[in-house]
Amino acid sequence: NRVEDVLARILPLEEAFGPALDLLEAGDVVALPTETVYGLAADATNGEAVARIFEVKGRPRFNPLIVHVSDMDMAQKIAVFDAASLALAHGFWPGPLTLVLPLREGHGIHPLVTAGLDTVAIRMPRDFARELIDELGKPLAAPSANSSGRITATTAQAVEDDLGDRIELIADGGRTHVGVESTIIKIAGGAAHMLRPGGVTAGEIRNALGVEVVRGSTAGIEAPGMLASHYAPDAGVRLDATEVREGEALLAYGPKRIEGAERAVAVLNLSERGHMREAAANLYSHLKALDGSGAATIAVEPIPHDGLCEAINDRLRRAAAPREQATA
Ligand code: TXA
Ligand code: MG
Repeated sequence: NRVEDVLARILPLEEAFGPALDLLEAGDVVALPTETVYGLAADATNGEAVARIFEVKGRPRFNPLIVHVSDMDMAQKIAVFDAASLALAHGFWPGPLTLVLPLREGHGIHPLVTAGLDTVAIRMPRDFARELIDELGKPLAAPSANSSGRITATTAQAVEDDLGDRIELIADGGRTHVGVESTIIKIAGGAAHMLRPGGVTAGEIRNALGVEVVRGSTAGIEAPGMLASHYAPDAGVRLDATEVREGEALLAYGPKRIEGAERAVAVLNLSERGHMREAAANLYSHLKALDGSGAATIAVEPIPHDGLCEAINDRLRRAAAPREQATA
């Protein structure tokens, strides 16, 4: 096959809507923008369509997918909401928050989506994705639109570069607004467990509920996909760098540079002004660009640990982790 025969079509949103709907109805996958990152979407009730997601991403099947809905009615047919989860849904949906909830009897979600668990991760995205789900009338399973373990795509071109030879259509909504994945919360034992930091901060969750946010997994509460190595560029990643070494590229943060910055092969700043929202929005595209600079290692300046930077640090730690156990 020649390259021009096999690459996905990239269409602006208005033109993509109809063809995306046709593909989803036919049980195929479509790459589309959400407010967080690009997703690789399929009808969550169709086993063959969902299997195609795992195949395209090379994703291990023990790692369950997020189910995307267009309204609360659809959400409540799939999952059982406790009072705190309902409050979070009302406060943050549509938006970058995923809730892990018990599946409701007769939910219709294919077991491949949940990897056979009796819980489901569910969220309501904004804009294009939400309108498409509404028109389809069915929930969409959608992991991030990248090969398993690799850098998450925040532009249509990044999806094309990674998965373009394996899918038919990429709906192009420009660069995604939030830039990091949704925050995953599971309410259990009166506490909010943050299984993955993301676009909604721990402080926002705490303020909404008036309860403390417990970080990470506790016994039996786990986001199964949260294995150490993830979001990995080809280059090595060195965190909390206090100097730039020979041959390294530099991922900077804020107005001040670390020692030796002038000898970096390439420099990109997540946010010159030290704005966390801007830094989150730039994270994956800057990592991808520095990876493309040819540097063997990307040195990363120290980044704050609070607010949205919690998600940024989480992704950078996984990008820096040893690669043997790479997944999803
Ligand atoms: O922003 C996002 O959440 C993006 C966009 C496309 O919506 N999606 C995304 O999906 O990041 P994915 O598949 O890359 O991440 C899904 C995460 C995984 O870590 C998975 O283990 C966790 O959700 N997850 C799914 N179902 C779960 C469940 N029942 N219990 C705990 N964690 C679950
Ligand atoms: Mg992902």
